[in-house]
Amino acid sequence: MKQPNKIIVIGMGFVGLTLAIFLTSKKFNVIGVDTDQNKLNTLLQGSTPFYEPGLESALKSSLKKYLSFTNNLSSVDAADIVFVTVGTPPMRDGSIDLRYIKSSTKQISEWCNNNHIQPVIVYKSTILPGTFENVIKPILKSLSENTTVNPEFLREGSALQDTIHPHVIVIGGKEKPALSLKRFYQKIYEQKIPIKTTSATNAELIKYANNSFLAAKISFINTIANICQRFPDSNVDDVAEVIGLDPRIGNLFLKAGPGYGGSCFPKDVQALLSLTKNLGTGSDFLNAIHKTNKQQAEMVLKLITKQVKSLKNSNISILGLAFKENSDDIRESVSISLIEKLLTKKVNVRVHDPRAIDNAKSVFNNKVMYCTDVSDCLRSSDCAVLLTSWKQYLSLGKEFSKMRNPILIDTRRLLANKKLPVKYVGLGIGNEIVS
Ligand code: UDX
Repeated sequence: MKQPNKIIVIGMGFVGLTLAIFLTSKKFNVIGVDTDQNKLNTLLQGSTPFYEPGLESALKSSLKKYLSFTNNLSSVDAADIVFVTVGTPPMRDGSIDLRYIKSSTKQISEWCNNNHIQPVIVYKSTILPGTFENVIKPILKSLSENTTVNPEFLREGSALQDTIHPHVIVIGGKEKPALSLKRFYQKIYEQKIPIKTTSATNAELIKYANNSFLAAKISFINTIANICQRFPDSNVDDVAEVIGLDPRIGNLFLKAGPGYGGSCFPKDVQALLSLTKNLGTGSDFLNAIHKTNKQQAEMVLKLITKQVKSLKNSNISILGLAFKENSDDIRESVSISLIEKLLTKKVNVRVHDPRAIDNAKSVFNNKVMYCTDVSDCLRSSDCAVLLTSWKQYLSLGKEFSKMRNPILIDTRRLLANKKLPVKYVGLGIGNEIVS
């Protein structure tokens, strides 16, 4: 492949939009394709449909020169590379929904054949092992010779930074397109990044193995946190710090909390589990990661019921709705399922989040009270539950004195070392025995 000039990115979600913007910063002409015209209109006005640090200002500069959008791939005449970044959402049985993969692949195939072109086609969407071979290849036919599987590892909340500084690049597929893509990446990344070329199936599996392993680390440390909870003088962060010093373990992803959420870990663990079931083996291990995560959300509810004797008509304040800090994403957020449970117990729920209030409104309408100010959220409250590690919460202190019954359940132990005018219950700190 000659040095590419025009690049198409199909699917303007987290991965696609961030990639498109990053590529324009490297002076490529990028066309973002998405079937949702409303989303494209928002983007054309320089706004991102979700919050991601630094992305909106980067979008505004990209729009000045290199970035354009269309809802119709056939309106584009040619391109050197086509990235596919469409979603693969979960189905009820845990498997993934391939409808967007199939529809975009059909479009690409028709478009290439009509225009007699053979761009390098790159699948960044998360797809289970076998998807390239059994689903994509039969649609692309000879075009599949020029196709690679190139999973993405960016995290929400640091999407742009992770795209600028990936820890690894994995390229699966036939040698020719894999080498073309490798050279492309070597040119655009000034720093040396490990690039691994492998089979398409390995590339597909690497993504699931990666995410499932990280999810396993979290479920593991949450298990330890629940043991710590039963022993006064025990703190999961002290245990995590020391085991993390063992280079065989490493210190990342050992922060105990209310359980992992978001659009990847819950979905990917269940998809891999469902794959093992289809393969006839199943996996007790993957099942345990998933079950432990669900139980962790129950643990938060137990901590609340231990503190608030009668939940009915009590006032409970939820600090943090997003599944993680620096994001407005509430998908699979433990806060959301917890609020749902509290509402069934007739609790008056007040919520605060620096970014995710609007998204929560579309779930709860007028069933909860939305607060833009933490003090309002805590006023007359019987219990506050901190669920998301927003930096803003680190400076909280006197706000807790507004509570009727000053109790804080800190599921992230963000305020563990502060003197607060509140009874402090830290998840994974052994001062409150919960059975
Ligand atoms: C994850 C992967 O990290 C990323 O590589 C992949 O591309 C997509 O899935 P993301 O879901 O955006 O990224 O965020 P991440 O930072 O991994 O957090 C996921 C969840 O795990 C959050 O709910 C977070 O609070 C939780 N978590 C993370 C913990 O509870 N403890 C930790 O130590 C780390």
